[in-house]
Amino acid sequence: MNEVIIVTGGAGGIGSELCRGLAADGLKIMVADYSKEGADKVAAEIRQAGADATAVQVDVGNPQSVAAMMDQAIDRYGQVDYVFCGAGVMDRIAVVDMPEQEWDRVMRINLKGVFLCSQAAAKHMIPKNQGRILSIASGRGVAGQPRAAHYAASKAGVIAFTKSLAMELAPHNITVNAVCPGATDTPMSRIGFTPEQFKKREEIPPLLDGLTQKDEIVGLVRYLLSDATRYVTGQTFFLRTPK
Ligand SMILES: NC(=O)c1ccc[n+]([C@@H]2O[C@H](COP(=O)([O-])OP(=O)(O)OC[C@H]3O[C@@H](n4cnc5c(N)ncnc54)[C@H](O)[C@@H]3O)[C@@H](O)[C@H]2O)c1
Repeated sequence: MNEVIIVTGGAGGIGSELCRGLAADGLKIMVADYSKEGADKVAAEIRQAGADATAVQVDVGNPQSVAAMMDQAIDRYGQVDYVFCGAGVMDRIAVVDMPEQEWDRVMRINLKGVFLCSQAAAKHMIPKNQGRILSIASGRGVAGQPRAAHYAASKAGVIAFTKSLAMELAPHNITVNAVCPGATDTPMSRIGFTPEQFKKREEIPPLLDGLTQKDEIVGLVRYLLSDATRYVTGQTFFLRTPK
């Protein structure tokens, strides 16, 4: 397999698992993250396992940084077939207490980041008349979340952006979809929980609405990159019912 994928948030809990899983399938991986150290670690681990990965530092909210990420991927591999926008942040804070900067920070990374990375991907993919763009939204984007309204609003934005971009890119044979994992055990999902509260969450069996397992997300992404979904676009896939 010669396909190349950029995974933003590639050093994170979900992103790193995705990088490892897709590398094992034979894809070439650009592990893109704000944390250069984290991206280096994931890429080195993949290379050690005998697959191909390159680390790149990126700030997804900065257009110059996103352009440099695309350039580096094209310099390294000559092409980019897929872009997975996985970088994201959240914090728990009530709207009445939320500083404007906190709203802007979450919107900039979660929503503008998806816009900038998708835009850069589309510009590269349109002349080739092929490509797939995936983003991580969240069930919070449809169900809401108290003390994380900025996060929920950013993810609702990702869902609407995905539908809109899918319509724009369909004539160019490029699909655009979003995945919503459900609560998954990563540093992000522990925010706002005590270790005791999180342990209780962990004890709920997955089939009874417990935590999403990371390999479920990798499996869904594999499906969305497969030939079986070549005509699937503008969709948002939920691994758990948003509540
Ligand atoms: N964990 C969950 O329960 C859950 C549920 C639904 C959706 N999500 C979404 O999944 C995605 C991955 O989350 P995770 O749980 O793996 O969290 P995580 O905190 O483990 O990973 C997020 C990664 O994004 C990176 N990042 C942050 N700001 C960045 C920037 N400006 N530019 C580039 N990279 C940046 C971080 O360095 C980190 O490696 C996020 O978009 C999150 O909103 C997570």
